[in-house]
Amino acid sequence: MINIKLSVDSVKPFISEAQIDQFQDKISAAHKALYEKTAAGNEFLGWVNLPSSIEDTFLDEILGHAKTISKIAEVYVVIGIGGSYLGTRAVIEALQHHFSLMLPGSFPQIIYAGQNISEDYLADLMQILDKKDYALSVISKSGTTTEPALAFRLIKNHLEAKYGKADAAKRIIAITDEKRGALKTLADNEGYKTFVVPDDVGGRYSVLTPVGLLPIAVAGYDIKKLVSGAREMEAFLKSNTSIKTNPAMLYAATRNALYQMGKSTEILVNYEPRLYFLSEWWKQLYGESEGKEGKGIFPASVSNTTDLHSMGQYIQEGVRSLFETVLSVENSHQKLPIPVDKENLDGLNYLCSKSITEVNQGAEEATRQAHVQGDVPNLRLSIPKINEENLGQLLYFYEFACGLSGYTLGVNPFDQPGVEAYKKNMFAILGKPGY
Ligand code: PA5
Repeated sequence: MINIKLSVDSVKPFISEAQIDQFQDKISAAHKALYEKTAAGNEFLGWVNLPSSIEDTFLDEILGHAKTISKIAEVYVVIGIGGSYLGTRAVIEALQHHFSLMLPGSFPQIIYAGQNISEDYLADLMQILDKKDYALSVISKSGTTTEPALAFRLIKNHLEAKYGKADAAKRIIAITDEKRGALKTLADNEGYKTFVVPDDVGGRYSVLTPVGLLPIAVAGYDIKKLVSGAREMEAFLKSNTSIKTNPAMLYAATRNALYQMGKSTEILVNYEPRLYFLSEWWKQLYGESEGKEGKGIFPASVSNTTDLHSMGQYIQEGVRSLFETVLSVENSHQKLPIPVDKENLDGLNYLCSKSITEVNQGAEEATRQAHVQGDVPNLRLSIPKINEENLGQLLYFYEFACGLSGYTLGVNPFDQPGVEAYKKNMFAILGKPGY
């Protein structure tokens, strides 16, 4: 069953149905091109049929390794950046206790490295690793990215000093290209267990490969349900070919229609702090896929109601180039009654008959009304609850819509030539041989 619903009702004051429908032909062509592999970037379409092609035996193999890791490690370090990091963190943080680092449990605590080049971050990390039993995954499709390579060099050194070279090697899993790259060579030389990032799956589309599945399993979450949610969405989006019935097509058409009328920034809005990294993952997915050739909607995000007290002013009254997509969660997992206070000095007794989720939803609806009045079109994507199955549906929905939207915009959504520019300069500045 498909649990995600897209509403474009609060876009209607700004664009007509006909303006959205005019994209049907382009979007249909994009839909076809994704399956027939006839458009730009077709060598990176392995993600399209990925959920349905994952064998359950492969998931069992990943679960087996996760179990082994959880027996030897209190902490699991996930080393990676961009597509080799954000999807993993998006899913784990959406599912885990908000204060999980203060709640030691039966699964290793997941911490991250290789997503920055901060000396203080790495030094703090070493201090923690001194005191904990740990294992790690080093994840890099290319196997040559500076940030994770540098973090891995430091942590590998630490791990070998702590456990000895042979035991350290058993605590390292490398997730990288099947044949190429410095990480692959290193893993082969040192005898690390490796998992493959398929050639035809780009970094930002790789969360449902071992890149995301292994760390998510180590964290104790149900990767079978995650994949099953993605499979349901894959089948649904494949068999529905009209903007009227396919929410990914409707999303792609609506955002392109808004872009055409000058709405060049999309803000992904959440009202649940655990969705913060889902927005970060989404920003990479859409930013790297569409931002090229002088084109593309700028993907931004806010976490409300926190950011209503910071970015709310700009969204209400700043430059009118914005539209929002609210990722709305209908139900919380837990209930916490608001206590009645006899004296009511804070004036909050009027809320006591409501749940906190209803208060949050009141804020969401009030903000929608205010922003629409303030000339900010609003889309609403709703899910009943945050769980593995719904996250699987959501991940695949966003990936598929991104492919459709990028093709509709007229770019190759599967390359990222622009990210090389800073790297060349950095290598020259730092004196890398050959630059
Ligand atoms: O989407 C992409 O391909 C990139 O953002 C990469 O994920 C990121 O640069 C990390 O690359 P790698 O996995 O090769 O280390």
